[in-house]
Amino acid sequence: MTIYNNIKQVKNLINEHVKNGKSIGFIPTMGALHIGHLSLVQQARRENDIVAVSVFVNPKQFNNPDDLKRYPRTIEHDKKLIEDYADVLFIPEADEIYPEGFGTTVHVFPLADIAEGAFRPGHFDGMSTVVLKLFNLVQPTRAYFGKKDYQQYLIVRQMVRDLNVPVQIVGCDTVRESTGLALSSRNMRLTPKERLKAAVIYQALSEAKKCIINGERDTHVIRVRIEKMLSVEPLWRTEYIEIRSIQDFSEPLHIMSDSVILIAGYMGEVRLIDNIEIPIS
Ligand code: PAJ
Repeated sequence: MTIYNNIKQVKNLINEHVKNGKSIGFIPTMGALHIGHLSLVQQARRENDIVAVSVFVNPKQFNNPDDLKRYPRTIEHDKKLIEDYADVLFIPEADEIYPEGFGTTVHVFPLADIAEGAFRPGHFDGMSTVVLKLFNLVQPTRAYFGKKDYQQYLIVRQMVRDLNVPVQIVGCDTVRESTGLALSSRNMRLTPKERLKAAVIYQALSEAKKCIINGERDTHVIRVRIEKMLSVEPLWRTEYIEIRSIQDFSEPLHIMSDSVILIAGYMGEVRLIDNIEIPIS
């Protein structure tokens, strides 16, 4: 695995691979890598000639400066975790990604403003701007995104479609702990007790899915059921519960098509998100 810290080196290498007709699988990350990230890298390894990973804690997507400061940085661990699977690790500096005078923002309407976007103003704009920039630098054939961040995945898909970015977006299943808690870099900030209790999020999502599969279609009833399950855990504070159609992200009163339920909230001090897809057929 070769490590690059600047854009020029990456561009030279990528140009070489593009010239030789190699397919490039790309996984953008913010580091603090875990088995969830690794599953994306491994899938890219199976499907491409060259695998490139980026680690960049993108300041533009943090709406809370404290969150940015506290974001875990574990670069030596990150290198070790992926070295058997990735060919290229790109770790750019913030002033190279955002040089003096940088003035462009990508806004994906209306997806960036609703659900997670409503609670984290500017977050998705910062995310889509850096992802488009990284796509332009790395020129991947395929880029891998976790469904753990479901709305992010949908936004990137729409951006690529709207702007004809020549990359295939691959959505990958969420990797979970044995309790059901979705792996996240933020989990390391939970106390052992909070970590155990955080399993309630996925329990509530799974219960809601079961309910829908068994025929319940009224989103009000489903929401109340989820709220009730979450309320059992006093350390948990819900920010939102969203039941949305996967196709157009609308909020139906009655579920008629494939849907996704998204939950966000705080376990103690730590903000967590999770979701579950519900196929309707
Ligand atoms: P980060 O949070 O580091 O996540 C990088 C990728 O790993 C994302 O596609 C995310 O959905 C995926 N991922 C995280 N946890 C996962 C899990 N438990 N199972 C499966 N996939 C998981 O998302 C970002 O970084 C940034 O917003 C980024 C896209 C890099 C832009 O800055």
